[in-house]
Amino acid sequence: MRFEFKRTSSVLALNLTVAAFSLMAATVEAAPTIGRSGLVVSADHWASEAGKQVLASGGNAADAAVATALVLAVTRPYFGSIGGGGFLLVRMNGKVHALDYRERAPSAARPDMYTSHPNKKASEIGGLAVATPGVVRGLWDLHQKFGKLPWTRLAEPAIRLAESGYVVSGEIHDRLKESLADFDQSGKTFWSREGKPLEVGTTVRQPKLAAALRAIQKQGPGGFYKGPVARDIVETVKKEGGILTLADLSEYRTLWRDPLELNVYGHRVYSMPPPSSGGTLLLSELQMAEKLKLHDEKPWSGAQFHLLAEIMRRAFFERQYIADPRAMTVTPAQIFDPARIARWVSTVTRDRRTEPDWKSFDLDALRAQPAKEERLETTHYCVVDRDGNAVSATTTLNGNYGSGVWTSRFGINLNNEMDDFTARPGEPNMFGLTQSALNKVEPGKTPLSSMTPTIVEKDGALVMLVGSPGGPRIINSVFQVLFWALTTKFDIDEIVQAPRVHHQFLPDIVFHDRTLNPEVVRLLEEKGHKTKAETVARVYAIRKRADGLWEGAFDARGEGGGSGY
Ligand code: DON
Repeated sequence: MRFEFKRTSSVLALNLTVAAFSLMAATVEAAPTIGRSGLVVSADHWASEAGKQVLASGGNAADAAVATALVLAVTRPYFGSIGGGGFLLVRMNGKVHALDYRERAPSAARPDMYTSHPNKKASEIGGLAVATPGVVRGLWDLHQKFGKLPWTRLAEPAIRLAESGYVVSGEIHDRLKESLADFDQSGKTFWSREGKPLEVGTTVRQPKLAAALRAIQKQGPGGFYKGPVARDIVETVKKEGGILTLADLSEYRTLWRDPLELNVYGHRVYSMPPPSSGGTLLLSELQMAEKLKLHDEKPWSGAQFHLLAEIMRRAFFERQYIADPRAMTVTPAQIFDPARIARWVSTVTRDRRTEPDWKSFDLDALRAQPAKEERLETTHYCVVDRDGNAVSATTTLNGNYGSGVWTSRFGINLNNEMDDFTARPGEPNMFGLTQSALNKVEPGKTPLSSMTPTIVEKDGALVMLVGSPGGPRIINSVFQVLFWALTTKFDIDEIVQAPRVHHQFLPDIVFHDRTLNPEVVRLLEEKGHKTKAETVARVYAIRKRADGLWEGAFDARGEGGGSGY
């Protein structure tokens, strides 16, 4: 099997000493990373290295996740900012927990706030797009429940990088360039005096952000949700036309939720429950795959991709029933109930694409529109420690640089997660998703998500962590990587780099990586699918190898770095 991505050597020599492992920390291209005792994989080598240092100095996976996430907020503000939110799964002492630290709608939010607004982009750009951020409270709550090392110490690497600076990469520069059209003013840290994005190689220092991080370091969530940082957020959002209040911030709470779990392919898979649709759809897809004997088809063959697309269409049909759990009328277990899965499977054939009876689905209310190619504004990181504890976390601002709003005093980039609600019923959102009324905007409500942080065990032991950015493409990317990991003998890096497909029910198109073999594309079309070449998300994963070492992989479609010891 040959993929067209550039890769470095696939496996590190096994006889490297533990000391040598710690020297092999950072890498800037897709390559597997190995850890004997612990391993961190994230979008950024500084972040992974900070997490690894925490592990190597006695911290556990929860401690390392905090250090990694805070560095991402400094070095990758376009998705890692503390102005965002996310979901994580944490495995501690053999038990898996799910933490919902997603943004919530401000208390003044109303269902018609976007339909009645003259600016059609009000849910995407500017103050009204900003939902109450959850990252700081999320990391704090993770640490309070499971952390070992002092919180103050975990914030230190991020503060140092914000103060002393880091060098602007091509990726950062390109993203700044892309975003110039969307926003103009407050992200000035990343602008030259002439109002141009900082050039590659320039050192960027963020003393204002460092001051906010210091407040968080000293006071915990109080340093963000109250006091000067909170006032800065509220005042900036107000100036930019938004409705966030000091009370929204001070009353923000995370929620510990029960992860969804399923036995499939001889493994126990844990994933995120609502308000993410990720886990529910992933577990439906995995069950359909197993029942359809998808593993009997040759991996990466046209026959297999045809069935994958058929499974995805059916699973994504169910997304209309998922929202903030308070608004749901069915449970995830009803959606991935074996009898329902069997009924779906009975409508699939190996010969051709088929139309099941979608009768309960009101197709007239939905308009198929082209899904936009994914925008790069979410990220995933994976951490394992020496005791088999682990964190699999997906964090997001939603759009590139979120709402495009950066707070005036502390330079915090704020999310545009309000666009994940059904902001304008009947119209597709920025990911081409046409969503149901269950997900309408309401005060304090959590917008529906596709984020799919996932943890896998075999015989009670941790064997894999996986997750991805990519809006709805997250779910199908995690599904495919997990499916191939559980059913083939390829190493995790080969699986992550391999071409993938994506179908989200509407629009009715199989999106596929440009690297997918043209013969496979032709076969999909022969079987009745419409196809379009587009990047299908960027996966981060860690898997235990047969020799007991941890192997990490990040996607050559995006950026990443791993650090193990
Ligand atoms: O929660 C969600 O589903 C979206 N806000 C995620 C956005 C995303 O993954 C964009 N990334 N590339």
